Amino acid sequence: MINGIKPLERSLRWGMVGGGGTSQIGYIHRSAALRDGTFSLLAGAFDIDAQRGRLFGQSLGIAAERCYPDYATLFREEAARVDGIEAVSIATPNNTHFAICQAALAAGLHVVCEKPLCFTVEEAQALVELSQKQHKIIGVTYGYAGHQLILQARQMIADGLLGEIRIINMQFAHGFHAAAVELDNPSTRWRVDPRFVGPSYVLGDLATHPLFLAETMVPQLKVKRLMCSRQSFVKTRAPLEDNAYVLMEYDNGAVGSLWCSAVNSGSMHGQKVRVVGEKASLEWWDEQPNQLRFEVQGEPVRILERGMPYLDPIALADDRIGGGHSEGLFEAWSNLYRRFALAMDATDRRDRNFLADFWYPDVAAGTMGVRWVENCVRSADAGASWVEFR
Ligand code: NAI
Repeated sequence: MINGIKPLERSLRWGMVGGGGTSQIGYIHRSAALRDGTFSLLAGAFDIDAQRGRLFGQSLGIAAERCYPDYATLFREEAARVDGIEAVSIATPNNTHFAICQAALAAGLHVVCEKPLCFTVEEAQALVELSQKQHKIIGVTYGYAGHQLILQARQMIADGLLGEIRIINMQFAHGFHAAAVELDNPSTRWRVDPRFVGPSYVLGDLATHPLFLAETMVPQLKVKRLMCSRQSFVKTRAPLEDNAYVLMEYDNGAVGSLWCSAVNSGSMHGQKVRVVGEKASLEWWDEQPNQLRFEVQGEPVRILERGMPYLDPIALADDRIGGGHSEGLFEAWSNLYRRFALAMDATDRRDRNFLADFWYPDVAAGTMGVRWVENCVRSADAGASWVEFR
């Protein structure tokens, strides 16, 4: 159980790029990183608008001279300080992730990067190589994966409670962009512009989340081939899709489907993962993250509740308040940031034994998301053909 005792003897000196006062995602990064005392926020280049970013940083209590106009200055000036930052989080629009990640690693920083990590597998591989060369980690904020019942599902599947896995149904289908809201909303505008998001909208923005949840639950399954059909129901978004269906075949003969959509009118998030085995199924829904459905063929449905003693120790390790009390996305992100800190510390100590079994959304997970989107786009653009996964 997590009870506020710091898991490390010190706080990692931490900075942010992006995540400014007007951003959607900046606050949850800070809330999660600061929750357990594993990080101290000491510097940042928070905003594309340098003056706004400086004022925002100061309003967070950061020294004025450490609120920088841009990421290049942040990395250069901090590297010159004896007490400079050791880690940085990148929470900017997607087209900037690759360059900022590269610069951060080159400056000797550990990185937490927003998804998608970058736009091409070549870029992802370059980041993998650079992170290895620099002995620094890249964590990716697939935030929902920090919910405790995801690791419970992983353990139950590993324990064979479902039998051989046959089917994985995934979806992330909300309705918030059923109309052209980007006309009034800057945070949505860049999401439907290829200059900012590369080759895809909902495949990269939404689908990679349940894809990673399923990978976490069933890590042994590898995608063999897939087929993707994508649509732009709000016509001005073409060629970017606001809805897509993906069918997948895995190497053990299992099949998967993923529906991602921003035009699922009336739906709040609609993010679900259902894993079907030969004996039983598990289902998790991000709008009810404290419950996991366990359905054994021929028996009544069981709803497993977060924080209860019957769960596996791997799920209870991240419990913060005990069963019955609801935890949410902020706790899930805190669990991930705690893991990022432990991974950074172990990497600095070259503790290979610790890292060998330690799970967190890492650069390989980020690379898989990029690779999957690339394959989906290749399939969709070939008229929704089956393509070998490469
Ligand atoms: P946003 O548009 O609301 O905010 C972007 C922020 O980045 C703003 O503060 C902006 O001033 C700043 N910025 C832009 N370019 C910059 C630069 N070159 N240097 C410094 N700051 C810069 O975007 P939002 O929704 O916060 O998304 C940011 C990232 O987070 C995206 O990659 C998005 O995909 C990801 N995201 C991830 C989520 C998750 O669940 N992991 C959820 C929502 C967003």
